[in-house]
Amino acid sequence: MVKIMTNYALPELANNVHWVGVKDWNRRLFDALIPLPKGTSYNAYLVQGTKKVALIDSVNPGFEKELESKIKELTDIGDIHYIIMNHAEPDHAASIKHFMELAPDSILVTSEKGAKMADIYFDVPADRVQVVEEGDTLDLGGKTLRFIKAPWLHWPETMFTFLEEDRILFSCDFFGAHTAFGFYDDDDNVGELLYLAKSYFGEIMMPFRKMGQKGLEKAKELDPLLIAPSHGPMYRNPGKIFDVYEKWTAGETKEKVIVLYVTMWNSTEVMVKTIVETLLSENIEVCMYDLTTADLGDIARDLVDSRGIVVGTPTVLNGMHPLAIYAANLFKALRPPTKYAVALSSYGWGGGALKQLQETLEPTKIEIVGALAVNGPSQENDLNTVKELGRDLAAKIKSDK
Ligand code: FEO
Repeated sequence: MVKIMTNYALPELANNVHWVGVKDWNRRLFDALIPLPKGTSYNAYLVQGTKKVALIDSVNPGFEKELESKIKELTDIGDIHYIIMNHAEPDHAASIKHFMELAPDSILVTSEKGAKMADIYFDVPADRVQVVEEGDTLDLGGKTLRFIKAPWLHWPETMFTFLEEDRILFSCDFFGAHTAFGFYDDDDNVGELLYLAKSYFGEIMMPFRKMGQKGLEKAKELDPLLIAPSHGPMYRNPGKIFDVYEKWTAGETKEKVIVLYVTMWNSTEVMVKTIVETLLSENIEVCMYDLTTADLGDIARDLVDSRGIVVGTPTVLNGMHPLAIYAANLFKALRPPTKYAVALSSYGWGGGALKQLQETLEPTKIEIVGALAVNGPSQENDLNTVKELGRDLAAKIKSDK
């Protein structure tokens, strides 16, 4: 069911339901923070009933004309009656104003909090907004849109839209992945989609795992045939993404340790490598990242299911190295399910890094199994202590299923 156009194929998800989004192949950073090695997509969808037409979400600023031209392949822009705003973040909602001007009779449909954000962010007047509550429906003529509250996935106003007749779930950010490749999860060019989806989950959804569990339950109850998120490919096999979200939202961890470190004169690195080898000898899975070159997406992905963390930092001016400060604050913000930590540090003429690290991690409630600061290069007795810490961490991890 693919409509072939002159120079582009618009996927038809079901009869009169089309993907009209755009692919941002060259974007390499999101939120001035998240690396996008494979670009991303901003998925918008057009649902054409016998009576009315709805546009579900829009696109990032700068792509309005591309979205416009795709809609025009299917209908006149002025025919749009409803613009559904599942989420107010500008990558999906900033173009809404443009389309509301082109379709002067159109109404913005969103949650109560979404309506406030539409006013603040996009200057949409209240008389052009229809607020929907849990379970409300819109009849487009043979196409019924049902709205489901899904707060904090990814902002407080977020909601899902479900197309009842075709059982398509438009989940916006939830179930997304940052990649411009492919339209469907089983397309040949998609590659390791769940790998990308896991990074995305770690970066975007992990801080809201509890709300994610609720959103997942609601999504499963709908029993969709297709999941159509607003970033990355659509899932023709919803069970594929449901199964991994079940684990990720529950905070299910593995016997695995993520190691984040930075070293200046190799002293910290020697300590870190010693604990890594100890953990490996205890059959603990280890992923190790030098913070001078590490990709935040890789770190976020491995935080999703790591039960332990080792942070290694030299002391810089009586505190942590700035890259370690960044990593510790990121850890705090992303709220991973990681339970146990070991802190390692070296210093030249004055300590202070471990104290700062412990203070930074204190609100996370993570159990610090042990910490060691060494003056200068580690001696044999220091490395023996590091090995003991490694064994202690491994024991904690193994005893916590
Ligand atoms: Fe894709 Fe939270 O915006």
